[in-house]
Amino acid sequence: MYKIISIANQKGGVGKTTTAMNVGVALRLAGKRVLLVDLDPQANLSTYLDFDNTYDKYPTISHLMMTAIGQINKLNDVKQYIRHNELNDIDFIPSDIDLANADFYLSGVISRETVLKRMLKNEIVGDYDYIIIDCLPSLGVLLMNALVASSGVIIPVQAQKFAFDGLGMLNSIFEQIRDTLKPDLELVGVLPTMVDNTNASKRIVEKLKENYRDKLFNTVIHRAAEAVESTDKHKSLCLYKNRVGEEYKAIAAEIIERTDQKNGTV
Ligand SMILES: Nc1ncnc2c1ncn2[C@@H]1O[C@H](COP(=O)(O)OP(=O)(O)OP(=O)(O)O)[C@@H](O)[C@H]1O
Ligand SMILES: [Mg+2]
Repeated sequence: MYKIISIANQKGGVGKTTTAMNVGVALRLAGKRVLLVDLDPQANLSTYLDFDNTYDKYPTISHLMMTAIGQINKLNDVKQYIRHNELNDIDFIPSDIDLANADFYLSGVISRETVLKRMLKNEIVGDYDYIIIDCLPSLGVLLMNALVASSGVIIPVQAQKFAFDGLGMLNSIFEQIRDTLKPDLELVGVLPTMVDNTNASKRIVEKLKENYRDKLFNTVIHRAAEAVESTDKHKSLCLYKNRVGEEYKAIAAEIIERTDQKNGTV
């Protein structure tokens, strides 16, 4: 049974891409079949995965979405958009800057928030246990597409001052989508990231616990220089010995537990 999970927070730089990549690889290491989807025009996840498209050699998610508009039923070749990264042994659909025009080219489309959902058809989805969508830091039509396509959401929250700014807004978007387009959308968990020894950081984690209770993951992700190095090396933290890599493996185990509990409906 597959599960499509969005990693979402409209705030920038909270650890969404780092989480998508490392949770994805940790799920692979746990024996799961995983597809990562880069749904951010910044294409940071694609870069993390060493995807170089200098000569526009490969089609990306923006081509896929443009092709999908108007002819979704003819879209039988989604598999040609899937790349494989050898080093991290993981499948992914890359992104590029053209996705920044999505708001524009989706604006006249009927049911524009369901394009990604309709694209991720059963024959693709059925090949994977988990499809992880790395969302962009904004509240537009692309985030809607990600949430509508998903069965669950993970919200990384940087354990720093102002962590709660905008969270209410994200919660209300989540509720709105649940009330209208996707009644069974689940909050898989809220994940504190870049946790350090400061009192501010501890206070944020405490406050998140009060607010989200059992929806808060039991593991937190600490701040560590390895996270940045890992991006530069295009290699997941889970593939060499370090604290944050171990934390992401623990999160993957929690995700498996939380999503399997419901007989695979998440
Ligand atoms: N646990 C960590 N410790 C230290 N640095 C981290 C950690 N996690 C992520 N970073 C760094 O913080 C920066 C932001 O992380 P990341 O790109 O994952 O955030 P994001 O939410 O995807 O950002 P955006 O909103 O721009 O997409 C990156 O430089 C990343 O390497
Ligand atoms: Mg990102």
